Amino acid sequence: MSTSDLSKHGSSSSKRTYNTDQGDLIMIFIYRNTADLFDGLLPRDIELTLQSGSSDKRVMDVGCGTGKWLIDLVEKYPNITEASGIDITLIHPQQFPSNVKFTRQDVLKPFPEDWIGRFDVIQARFLITGIKNFPSLLERLITLLKPGGYLIIVEPETKSHSTISDSLEEVSPASAKFGDISYQAMKKFGIDMDAAKNIPNYMRKSDSFDRVEQVSKDLPMSDWSDDPRLNEIGKAQIPNALAYPDTIRKLVLASGLVSQSEFETIKKDYIDETLKGEGKTVLPIWTIWGKKK
Ligand SMILES: C[S@@+](CC[C@H](N)C(=O)[O-])C[C@H]1O[C@@H](n2cnc3c(N)ncnc32)[C@H](O)[C@@H]1O
Repeated sequence: MSTSDLSKHGSSSSKRTYNTDQGDLIMIFIYRNTADLFDGLLPRDIELTLQSGSSDKRVMDVGCGTGKWLIDLVEKYPNITEASGIDITLIHPQQFPSNVKFTRQDVLKPFPEDWIGRFDVIQARFLITGIKNFPSLLERLITLLKPGGYLIIVEPETKSHSTISDSLEEVSPASAKFGDISYQAMKKFGIDMDAAKNIPNYMRKSDSFDRVEQVSKDLPMSDWSDDPRLNEIGKAQIPNALAYPDTIRKLVLASGLVSQSEFETIKKDYIDETLKGEGKTVLPIWTIWGKKK
């Protein structure tokens, strides 16, 4: 497939631009892909919680973006009476179910008092570039949960890898180079590059949870898989994978690690290589959840 075939794929993502200290950062929303990868909107035992007991369940999505996860959730689980989406900037659709509420709220700023101990389930998904201190985020979110409530964190690792070789460099040199530069640039700006792998430990150390579980799944970066289901997920991922360089261009350039023309060359090589899919690359996505004591 060539770059010109891209329009045929359309985009499964909603995109928006943020102003950051480093300039505009386009964020991509890949929730539907990861929901498919994890076979559902929620880990199984949390699903059961929403289906059993009282029919007055309250759920919060932190950094809710488009709000699509919450809207899908209330459609699937009728026991949810209150679904609260918070974000620093609101981009939810005009029309949404009456039990969904969107609030402009910085998760790092004080919460309204009546939110304390209010929620059965809280999710925070793909906040890695916005949150530098995950242990402190976890402590803040725990205060909003009822005893026995669940906190779910979904985050990607920050480097992709090949499923056919231990050396990404050998089979996908452009992806390896692009990954390295992005990694170094994000690290320079204080992003917790190992957040996904560290969060289970942060949760266990906080001593607020009865139980902490984790699962990691490999998201294919393009349609290279022989497994039809993974191939579909990979196909839907192509626009996201290809848009990724633009999401971090300004951050990488601000880091001073490469010049603009070097960046454009690396980007072009990375795109060509991703479309060919020869390295069979994946990005591990982690879902970690804990049950509050
Ligand atoms: C990559 S998007 C993910 C959106 C959504 N969770 C999803 O999975 O599609 C990150 C979201 O977190 C929001 N965000 C970043 N920092 C935040 C903060 N301090 N408080 C609230 N929301 C924040 C951003 O505005 C953005 O909508």
